[in-house]
Amino acid sequence: MEKKIILSGIKPTGIPTLGNYIGALRNWRLMQQDDNYCYYMVADLHALTVRNVPEELRQQTRSMAALLMACGIDPERSPLFIQSHVHQHAELSWLLGCTTYMGELNRMTQFKDKSAKHADNINAGLYTYPVLMAADILIYGAHQVPVGDDQKQHVELARNIAIRFNNAFGETFVVPEPVMPKFGARIMGLQDPEHKMSKTDTNPNGYISLLDDPAVITKKFKKAVTDCEPTIAYAEGRYGCNNLLTIYCACTGKTMDEAVKDFEGCGYGRLKGAVAEAVIAEIEPVQREYRRILDDREYLDGVLKKGAEQAAERAQKTLDLAFSRVGLR
Ligand code: TYM
Repeated sequence: MEKKIILSGIKPTGIPTLGNYIGALRNWRLMQQDDNYCYYMVADLHALTVRNVPEELRQQTRSMAALLMACGIDPERSPLFIQSHVHQHAELSWLLGCTTYMGELNRMTQFKDKSAKHADNINAGLYTYPVLMAADILIYGAHQVPVGDDQKQHVELARNIAIRFNNAFGETFVVPEPVMPKFGARIMGLQDPEHKMSKTDTNPNGYISLLDDPAVITKKFKKAVTDCEPTIAYAEGRYGCNNLLTIYCACTGKTMDEAVKDFEGCGYGRLKGAVAEAVIAEIEPVQREYRRILDDREYLDGVLKKGAEQAAERAQKTLDLAFSRVGLR
């Protein structure tokens, strides 16, 4: 049986949050099974859509690669690479841009959100970002793309672009589908539980970083915004409480019914303490592994070089086919 191809990426803008981990990275690890072949990348080109400090980007890109390995990405079975090391992505992106309508890009909610947030830097890259992301996916013939809820719309655009290109020029691209976790496709901020947890939040109490100390994690959960209802339940409009229960389920493997039962008759103090404990148990091993990998410079460089070579081999094949389909060869 032919293996299913999996592809996903993460921007090296800061340290990943618990949201990135539960929404995506944990699934990346779990999808490394015998009937899948996974490509995982640090999306450094995507990071350029907001103003950046070159030295920081360099350092954060490496550190992100080390963290991905610490989260369980095994580079022996899944090529792990830096997006910009595989130049084919940017080339395919041009072709796909000519198959994408501005109307489609105008509808991207992330573009709207980011333009509001960076009103002084609404650059063309921010606008065409989903096209590059489609190239990332289609160039590997990915069947499945593990992402959190906020990236679903981008994967759906990649599907539409693939279908349109195939219809216009003949079968070229695999039509991908997004894969999201049962619990935690959208982890919310701890201080503002009506908005997603983000690694670029200006208030550090709003998110749990994968490298936060256990004591800091406990403190952040203690401060998490909830509501004044007397019982703990998963219910419409109870954003803070729902978020804590969701994180609890994601980290313990319990169902929502079981989780709610665990906290029958308890107050928020108990819930917050238990969530913090479950999160610490999940990410403490990641932190230990991260430090070990980051210290081994030679190993990390070797992994990324080999990953890029493996990725480029596959990417070039798709690029050749796409170029030839549109009449460039
Ligand atoms: P990025 O770096 O913003 O986020 C990486 C992954 O984490 C998920 N995520 C969340 N999941 C649950 N709750 C949250 N609060 C939360 N915040 C983030 C995201 O959905 C994502 O899966 N454009 C992508 C990177 C990318 C990519 C790709 C992904 C570039 N090319 C190709 C898939 C395929 C991004 O900015 O993710």
